[in-house]
Amino acid sequence: MQTAQVSGSSTAFIIFGVTGDLTQRKLIPALYELNRTGRLPQPFCVIGFARRDWDDAEMQRNMQAAVVQFARNQPVDAAALQTLLKSMHYVRASFDDGTGYQSLCSLFADLKIENRLYYLATPPEAYPTIIKRLGDAQLEQCTSGWTRVVIEKPYGTNLASAQALDKAVHGVFQEDQVYRIDHYLGKETVQNILVFRFANGIFDPLWNRHHVDHIQITVSETVGVGSRAGYYETAGVIRDIFQNHLLQLLTLTAMETPVAFNADAVRNEKVKVLQSLRPLNGQDVLNNTYRAQYMAGTIDGKRIPGYKEEVGVNPDSTTETYLAARLFVDNWRWAGVPIYIRSGKALPVRATEISIQFKQVPLSLFNWRNLAGDAPNVLAISIQPHEGITLTFGAKAPGPINTIEPVSMNFDYVKTFASEPPEAYERLILDSLVGDATLFTRSDEVLAAWKYTTAILDGWAAQPVSHLPVYEAGTWGPPGADDFIGREGRAWRQLGP
Ligand code: BG6
Repeated sequence: MQTAQVSGSSTAFIIFGVTGDLTQRKLIPALYELNRTGRLPQPFCVIGFARRDWDDAEMQRNMQAAVVQFARNQPVDAAALQTLLKSMHYVRASFDDGTGYQSLCSLFADLKIENRLYYLATPPEAYPTIIKRLGDAQLEQCTSGWTRVVIEKPYGTNLASAQALDKAVHGVFQEDQVYRIDHYLGKETVQNILVFRFANGIFDPLWNRHHVDHIQITVSETVGVGSRAGYYETAGVIRDIFQNHLLQLLTLTAMETPVAFNADAVRNEKVKVLQSLRPLNGQDVLNNTYRAQYMAGTIDGKRIPGYKEEVGVNPDSTTETYLAARLFVDNWRWAGVPIYIRSGKALPVRATEISIQFKQVPLSLFNWRNLAGDAPNVLAISIQPHEGITLTFGAKAPGPINTIEPVSMNFDYVKTFASEPPEAYERLILDSLVGDATLFTRSDEVLAAWKYTTAILDGWAAQPVSHLPVYEAGTWGPPGADDFIGREGRAWRQLGP
């Protein structure tokens, strides 16, 4: 990880929505960790902006509690925590109150701030207001230094709303000031997909329709929707995970080699993948997607209430908590290779994995007992929680009875590097401070992802269902989920212990 380095000019990290969950669980612990490891620019301060009746001292107390509870390296380093807390200031105002922005201006002047990073960690409805107010107060520009804005997901709820938000953002900020976060891109193992593919010579020749039978991408979670049910009811897997995290994993897996490793070159290639997705329309939407909803069940010995039992969920809800989809990237590399995607809440294991399933041999030579199956070559990239890469192949089992068994070569991140991968937010916050937008989503990219996703949403809306198939929490979806991939003679990979 790089360092935002001592530049001599003062930097302010302004958090809109500083009283919220994201700030306390992710942003402040990440800032603490960056401070502890000497990576924050100096001088540096954190300014909280929110409605709650706090002052500097109250903000510091709350942020101290957040670090103590959520810092990933425990016990907490008291000195690093104190310097961070001392740098904190609070502006109390509603997001639509111009005087709050004047106070912010005065604070910048008092603290001689030259660089400003605005972090929007509020509910998304507040984004346009905050952006407009920043523009009204001419806070989008600096006479010296830089100004940037980091925007959390969800970036819109469909193509039209994402376009409207983008228009509001571009009404105030230049695109190169805008950092749209998808925290998946900050995960070390997600970044490693690019290194694996483009820093090694032996994989690329196989990474295409000539050798790959199909690809599976899974984002499986054990948690139910819990207290987020109200939000989730309006989102479902499609908006919560598919439009962003899953499509991002797909772009990194399918993209062509960029001409350089920088923000423009990498994102140019990613956006081409999204633009090459075969659009789904009408009946194709139903044929290529499969939705389901979880009922009560038990996971790791804990009872999970059914989705419809959660507060905020419509009793007739058809919001999907499980989604499988079949996608095609219609370009020369991938034409004809199905990409199966699945994601769900209340599934048996927490696992995010990309698996490249290679074609079988052209002719079977061994008329033996074959426990490895016809197409034993699978390259599985495990993003979490067991970070690593595994290549499976068939080997002759010892002994006189000729048998082929599946064996594997394995890279285990934690064993190899003797450490847990760092938290995604540390990397992303640092990159936004340094001004490296490679791991952030560009405007054309987020709109292309929404264009594809909105066609699916429209297809579902045009052919409404009265209820979705159900699955018991703690299972891999209803039987229909297996049939979805099984009708083409394929099966989902078995994940977990
Ligand atoms: C968030 C979704 O973006 O990602 C959550 O809103 C989901 O519903 C989370 O649980 C998963 O992130 P991670 O890093 O735990 O895999």
